[in-house]
Formats: sequence, structure tokens, C-alpha cells
Amino acid sequence: MKNIYLNIFSFNKNTLNKTIKCLKKNNIVGLPTETVYGLAGNAYSKIATKKIFKIKNRPKINPLIVHYLNINNAKKDVVLNKSFLKLYKKFCPGPLTFILKKKLNSKIRSEVTAKLDTVAIRFPNHKVIRSVLKKIDFPLAIPSANISSGISPVTAKDVSEEFNKKIKIIIDGGKAKIGIESTVIDLSKKFKILRPGVISPKEISLILKKKITLINKNISIKSPGALKKHYSPGLPMKINQNKPFGKHAFITFGSKFNNFEHSFNLSKKSSLKEAASNLYSIFRKIKKLNYKKIYVIKIPNRNIGIAINDRLDHAKNIK
Ligand code: TXA
Ligand code: MG
Repeated sequence: MKNIYLNIFSFNKNTLNKTIKCLKKNNIVGLPTETVYGLAGNAYSKIATKKIFKIKNRPKINPLIVHYLNINNAKKDVVLNKSFLKLYKKFCPGPLTFILKKKLNSKIRSEVTAKLDTVAIRFPNHKVIRSVLKKIDFPLAIPSANISSGISPVTAKDVSEEFNKKIKIIIDGGKAKIGIESTVIDLSKKFKILRPGVISPKEISLILKKKITLINKNISIKSPGALKKHYSPGLPMKINQNKPFGKHAFITFGSKFNNFEHSFNLSKKSSLKEAASNLYSIFRKIKKLNYKKIYVIKIPNRNIGIAINDRLDHAKNIK
């Protein structure tokens, strides 16, 4: 079959070199991570970071996550603490983002951090992105590869459709394994989870030996990802439903409503992990099929279900 997505490349030595060249010239590339696909640029470059904000139409007040290969690279830019080290040892590389104090002599652009005195850092666990990070001497600012407030992409094709020809290189690393964005934990002041993900508050509390809770969104919007109207498929959505409604799309979970014509099942075997990995591709599918409204069954609010409900809760705030 002819590849109509001319900016998608499979991963090999040649495309890796092309990617590195592009990044060194302060251009932006689409790269896979284990959570979702991202738009990568040099976090030390004003030109590159400005391009990221522009192409995503991202508000300047919403800071980016800086991605590193390992702790040695990160310690130049942020102040590490004991809790960070414990979590790093257990979960990294992996789907966990840490908010830490920025070092005064850090080279991270102030655009990246939206002028905050903290930086969000992450150590992604995907062969492609780790190969790229091994070959460059700067960290990568990588937001999810979608227009601001939309759904994160989980395939190279999603990224290509989102930006068309505006991105010259997207490396295909297969469907993102996890399918939702990393857990974000603030370790800079009072410890709080700013964005839930597959690594749950319970798992984190166990390692730190103290109770870590989710930030109360009504009180503070420390992480602009906590802003309303985020992760949105752009359709009205009703969550916590117990049955389908008319001819509207119905997102279900488990064994119920599988035979309903307009059902989209997140996980027939009731696996929250599988449900998270299917959530965004099901949103995109429903949109492509021209449904006008989405109903969603109640999802258990435990472990990864907390992250799924967080995304649904944001997604329902439609324009
Ligand atoms: O899984 C992920 O984290 C993906 C992949 C590509 O790594 N990236 C991602 O980036 O989701 P983005 O830009 O879509 O979301 C970053 C979140 C936003 O909610 C942002 O507000 C928050 O991290 N953030 C970044 N820096 C921050 C800081 N210094 N303080 C508080 N929140 C911060
Ligand atoms: Mg995003």
C-alpha cells in the first residue's frame, strides 16, 4: 500500500541521523514515547521552543516537560532531592514526570518553564526517543503532539493528521503502549500529584512512605494541564452513564452493551490498563465517524481508573 503520510518514517540508522540533524538545527520532530507521541525540540534553544508553542497554538503560560536520558544529564538543570531519587530508582525510565526546582545556572529556556522557578522533567522509556537522547548534548522539550487542548496522539498517523505538512519528520514507533500522558508529581514544595497517570498515587505513596494525594483542582491550578477544556475530542460528552442513549456514541467498559450498534469498548475484559491505552484512539475513531455526542459508562475510580476519569472529566468541558 502506498504511504500517503509522507512525513512518517520508520526507525533506522538513516532516519535517526536525519532526526538528530533536524533537532540540532532547532527544528521540531514528532517522536514516539511510551505514553503518547510528542513534538520534540531543543530545550536550550529559544528558536526551537518558540516553534513548539507556535505550532501547537499553546498558551505561553503552559510550561513544557523536559526529557532526559538519565539523572546525570538532568542534574545540571534541576535540584535533586531524596524523594526524587527514591522514585527515580523505582520508576525510571518510565511514565513519571517530576516538578523540581530549577538551578540558577540551568540552560533551560525561560519559555519552556513559562518563567516559573521549577522545571518538569521526565525520563521516557521508548527505544526511539532514548536512541535520540543518546546522540545529542541537550535535553528535549516534548509536549504531546496535538494542537493545544485536543487529544494526545498515540500513533504516528495521528501526529501527521494533526499537523499535516507542518512537521517534516515523524518517527513511527508503533502504537504508544500506555496511551495516556505521564503522572506529574510536584516535589518542589508540598508534594502533590498534579496529573494522574498509570503510576498511581498509591504506588508513589508506598515508595515515599507517606500519603501523596491528587491536587484539589478547585483550589489551585498549579499545572495548567489541570486547566479545564483539555484532552478534548471536540464533541459534547456525558460521563458516568449507566446506559447508551439514542444513536449517540457510547463508550463502554467490561462485558455490558457490547452488542449495541454504537458501542465502543475500552476493554472487554475490564482491564483499566487496556482501557487507558484505548481511550484516545476511541475518541479519534468516534470523531471520524461523525458522531455528534458521546456518552461514557461509569469507569471504576481506582488505580489507572483515576487517570482515565481525570481525562474524561477534562474532555467533557467542550466549547
Ligand atoms: O507523557 C507525557 O508526559 C507526554 C510525553 C510526550 O512525554 N508529554 C506531555 O506533555 O503530556 P504536555 O505538554 O502535553 O503536558 C505537560 C504537563 C502540562 O499539564 C503542564 O502544565 C505541566 O506538565 N507542567 C510542565 N511544567 C510544569 C511546571 N514547572 N510546574 C507545573 N506543571 C508543569
Ligand atoms: Mg498535552
